[in-house]
Amino acid sequence: MEKIIIEGGARLNGTVKISGAKNAALPILLSSILTDKENKINNVPNLKDVDTTCQLLKGAGVKVERSGDGQVIVDASRINNTEAPYDLVRTMRASVMVLGPLLARLGKAKVSLPGGCAIGARPINLHLKGFEALGANIKLEHGYVVAEAKRLKGNRIYFDIVTVTGTENIMMAGVLAEGKTIIENAAREPEVVNLANTLNSMGASIKGAGTDIIEINGVSRLNGGEHTVIPDRIETGTFMVAAAITGGDVEIVNCIPEYIEPVIIKLTEAGMKIDTGKDFIRVKANGKIKSVDIKTSPYPAFPTDMQAQFMSLMSISEGMSVITETVFENRFMHVAELRRMGANIKVEGNTAVIRGVPKLSAAPLMATDLRASASLILAGLAAEGETVVSRVYHLDRGYEAIEKKLSSLGAKIRRVK
Ligand code: EPZ
Repeated sequence: MEKIIIEGGARLNGTVKISGAKNAALPILLSSILTDKENKINNVPNLKDVDTTCQLLKGAGVKVERSGDGQVIVDASRINNTEAPYDLVRTMRASVMVLGPLLARLGKAKVSLPGGCAIGARPINLHLKGFEALGANIKLEHGYVVAEAKRLKGNRIYFDIVTVTGTENIMMAGVLAEGKTIIENAAREPEVVNLANTLNSMGASIKGAGTDIIEINGVSRLNGGEHTVIPDRIETGTFMVAAAITGGDVEIVNCIPEYIEPVIIKLTEAGMKIDTGKDFIRVKANGKIKSVDIKTSPYPAFPTDMQAQFMSLMSISEGMSVITETVFENRFMHVAELRRMGANIKVEGNTAVIRGVPKLSAAPLMATDLRASASLILAGLAAEGETVVSRVYHLDRGYEAIEKKLSSLGAKIRRVK
């Protein structure tokens, strides 16, 4: 089991380059199942979840070639298996996005129901309801979703709750369905737009991605092409908080500031000096950290995936901050660990009240989920003494070489076996 050890106190300075977005790369890689032509995907981050997705594709008979520079070439011309096994889906819930492409391309799919996860039950009922609306026959057998459809037929689908992968799953099914599919109350995340643009460059006909109404006119087949994954807005936000929490001055390049606007606004309110350009954000700490309140909601609001990281910053702010998590029902797993570092946090339901303390003190910590582990790393950067974070495999799912990037900014951080 690997651990990450941090000697806190160093102010971060310098420039860091953002990698491709995990939550865009995963659906784009899986969308290659929709065609028998070759697709080249650039700026794919080197992450555990990308490894798992490539494993899933290979298991289905898709040819996958990964070059070292972030390009993945996929060719699903000889796809021969329509099953996503439990051990893969268990390690990565996003595997459920293989359902839409398999149903659309081959008319059948057998995908393990994802188990729950640390941050919530995370059901996929809305995905399945969408597939049934498109004419698929869905059965649940022995923990598996067994889906069949001779030919998917377009329909109007309304999502009671905004679901990112639900929107992406139905979008991928709709591109080859007969007729028109309309998704209402669709997710508006930039990763949904990146997927739609990719599918359109493969010959699909999708309008409205990025708004809450997406219209898909089914086509008979898709071509291949070359595509690029957008920068990771959550990695961007994480490094912005790293600069703020250490009192540093960091330039974050290869990012898209507008995709992380709520974090820019909230860090400015917290007292940071922030300059932005077309593809960079500079965060300069400015003395003390003011307490600000945040409430997470679907894009374009403050992202739930930045809630834990922001809570670390608020732990050493001057005053009281209220953080409300409206997307997941159990996304405060980091609170207990931050408390062990001396943070003063009270949780009532989906609201956390943080009273800032002057300093956190280093402690041995346990990561529980991807973004919680990032928040513990951030807290360790600011804490007095040596922090040891274990179960860092959570971190490797969504951050490419985070300790290398942080140490290039001056952090005293290392990974040990
Ligand atoms: C995506 O997960 C992201 N993952 C998550 O990022 C992110 O936290 C989440 O969207 C919210 O932004 C990927 O894109 C691979 P949802 P997803 O469906 O699609 C409920 C990370 O850290 N819901 O938008 O699984 C659900 O329980 C990960 O990178 C249903 O009830 O999230 C949740 O409360 C973590 N039924 C809410 O909707 C459904 O059928 C939003 O979930 C689907 C979802």
